[in-house]
Amino acid sequence: MTDTLSPSHTSSRTFAEGVPLVVEQATRRPVAEREQLLADPGFGKVFTDHMVVARYVAGRGWTEATLTGYAPLQLDPSTAALHYAQSIFEGLKAYAQPDGSVAVFRPEQNAARMARGAVRMAMPPVPAEGFLAAVDALVDADRDWVPTGPDQTLYLRPYQLAVEPFLGVRPASEYLFVVIASPAGAYFPRGVQPVSVYLSEDYIRAAPGGTGDVKCAGNYAASLLAQEQAIAAGCDQVVWLDATEKKYVEEMGGMNLFFVLGAGADAELVTPELTGTLLPGITRESLITVAQELGHRVTERRFSVEEWRAGVADGSITETFACGTAAVITPVGHVKARTGDFTVGDGTPGAVTMALRERLLDIQHGRVADEHGWQHTVTAA
Ligand code: PLP
Ligand code: COI
Repeated sequence: MTDTLSPSHTSSRTFAEGVPLVVEQATRRPVAEREQLLADPGFGKVFTDHMVVARYVAGRGWTEATLTGYAPLQLDPSTAALHYAQSIFEGLKAYAQPDGSVAVFRPEQNAARMARGAVRMAMPPVPAEGFLAAVDALVDADRDWVPTGPDQTLYLRPYQLAVEPFLGVRPASEYLFVVIASPAGAYFPRGVQPVSVYLSEDYIRAAPGGTGDVKCAGNYAASLLAQEQAIAAGCDQVVWLDATEKKYVEEMGGMNLFFVLGAGADAELVTPELTGTLLPGITRESLITVAQELGHRVTERRFSVEEWRAGVADGSITETFACGTAAVITPVGHVKARTGDFTVGDGTPGAVTMALRERLLDIQHGRVADEHGWQHTVTAA
């Protein structure tokens, strides 16, 4: 089946001032193939029929934006981003709603974070209007790819990269902004079972003045060796410590962390404060609000490995969990460190963790009222 659209037409969406979002005809895969792919998509392996591509040229600004068929990008071998990693990305999700509509969770926050990241990487920010128009156009075109199974979502991956064919080290003069979409099930194959983590004492993720608070591609490349080390040690994930003293817990690979002090309704939550070296997660920020609404005190402060270990030993720390768009909320069970291993709680998901997880997922999947205006309903153009 193919679109009934004319080969190329301008939608009513605008990417940037004077730049309409053009819609191009694309081939859609047959329904049976799509349904087979949606049955068990895993994470990040299956992609929808469309993508959005926008181009920036210095001196002219954002020059064109197109919703088109998902296809390989053609890049010159000298493309700047391939050499010097002038590249950033985002991650957000679209959720099938009980009334048949589709909502994206807090996309304006991702637009703002990506714009901040662009400034840090000396790139031209994508206008928030363009980011949202691209997300809307893609989700609208690929509505049939939004899965409806339990905890399934359509994961959206906007990214921006320097495409000037040039080997000099300076900000490029040409960029692409691309959005692709990937139907997704659980990020961790074991679902909500606690993950084991490895404290990275050899490598650091981010240092003061560096790029730890933005989603630049290089941060993730630099994390891979430590992640391999974690796996070799029998763990699922790396936990990063501060670069200066290697004493304070910062975050996990791709997720922020929360520690639960005490238990039940009176439990207090602590999450590492945003010192500039960890990513200001949108899930983290949303959970601070949700936890406060559920009656918990939430503190953002520095939190040391020693406090974690001692709290687990004396029972004052009952749960630890990681949170992020891809992984939602995942309990942390066993912790491996040169200074001694420990296990949080009894190694099963904790009650506070699971209550917060359920509440957040209920909001995202539209099972409870969205009292914060977090859900952005995707409209047809
Ligand atoms: N920390 C890092 C390093 C990440 O890559 C992510 C994922 O985006 C997060 C934390 C969580 O951020 P968010 O909740 O916005 O997905
Ligand atoms: C996300 O949670 O969206 C992320 O970007 C984390 C990871 C997949 C890199």
